[in-house]
Amino acid sequence: MKPRKIREGVHWMGAIDWNRRLFDSLIPLPDGTSYNAYLVEGAEKVALIDTVDPPLLDVLKRHLANVPRVDYVIAHHAEQDHAGSIPYVLEKYPNAIVICSPKAKDLLLTHLDVPENKIKTVEDGETLALGGKTLTFIHTPWVHWPETMSSYLKEDKILFSCDFLGSHIATSELYAGDDRYVIEAAKRYYAEIMMPFRAMVRTNLKKIRELDFDLVAPSHGPIYDKPEMILAAYEDWSSDRVENRVVIPYVSMHGSTELMVDHLVSALAERGVAVQKFELTTTDIGKLAMALVEAATIVVGAPTVHVGPHPAVFSATHLANALRPKLKYAAIIGSYGWNTQVIERIAGLIPNLKVEVLGTVLSKGVPRAATFAELDALADTIRDKHATL
Ligand code: FEO
Repeated sequence: MKPRKIREGVHWMGAIDWNRRLFDSLIPLPDGTSYNAYLVEGAEKVALIDTVDPPLLDVLKRHLANVPRVDYVIAHHAEQDHAGSIPYVLEKYPNAIVICSPKAKDLLLTHLDVPENKIKTVEDGETLALGGKTLTFIHTPWVHWPETMSSYLKEDKILFSCDFLGSHIATSELYAGDDRYVIEAAKRYYAEIMMPFRAMVRTNLKKIRELDFDLVAPSHGPIYDKPEMILAAYEDWSSDRVENRVVIPYVSMHGSTELMVDHLVSALAERGVAVQKFELTTTDIGKLAMALVEAATIVVGAPTVHVGPHPAVFSATHLANALRPKLKYAAIIGSYGWNTQVIERIAGLIPNLKVEVLGTVLSKGVPRAATFAELDALADTIRDKHATL
């Protein structure tokens, strides 16, 4: 893909990573991703906004082949996928200065060995005049790291939002238009990356709402030319609203926990409660994260392995705790062979989840009538709690 014009003097200079399937060795990327850099050319100065992930540096090199000067590299965020190619840009343009937030300076020094005399820090609201184009730097901490900032180009009404509002999606389309699939990808991205910082997401949303922009140009995924769509989606996802829905991540080793999960799914459905179940040895954890964005309740289904929960349950529960979804209720169900501490072990894994525990149902071996009755009672409790949402 060649550089693409967005406005007069403003070009997309990014790299599309069609084939990447895992981010941070953790996050599934079913649709690949992109690393969006942008070139803003004023009458006097030229700024490159962010760079690309180093494995795709050759793409950026081709984009810059016919760019004679870059005076500033705007480093919105120190993570490698955006800042990782800054050393190359400084090599090509020895007079260029890196502009970043004060918190980013230390990270650029330690992570990328950017020379200290090449870095200029900017405060929240500070501006940079390029000649007929003015960048205003907006500190937007915790979307994604504490040092992250955005830039607003007032003459062209563009907000360069870095990770904030992005989507992991590789596409030849420069603009999102009103493609709902982009919003679906953005929701996955929000769930996996932004959800742990929900309070800061809301603060930063209010901050950027004060700006007058026509385009939101993130560092991943297409540019939003109808930005209200993504802003409204983020405001909903980060709000306190939860849905009458239960998410059940589970594993079953010999079928007993699966029998219990299936009984509970049916019991909840009969009571008008929506359910999503995720078998953890095969599930896409991105789908699980997305389900947690709005669910009111999580029910963990865990068989016992050597007294504790199955390792896949351990991992998923730890992840759910890290993502800090806005769940209100939780329960634990599962089966065991001769002894178990699965309740205590799982409870210890979720200190971040501010949930009311609605109950636990354990079966020694194959579940029978008494266990199914307990599950029915749990379904009653969930229905009654959800009625008050
Ligand atoms: Fe796209 Fe937090 O890096």
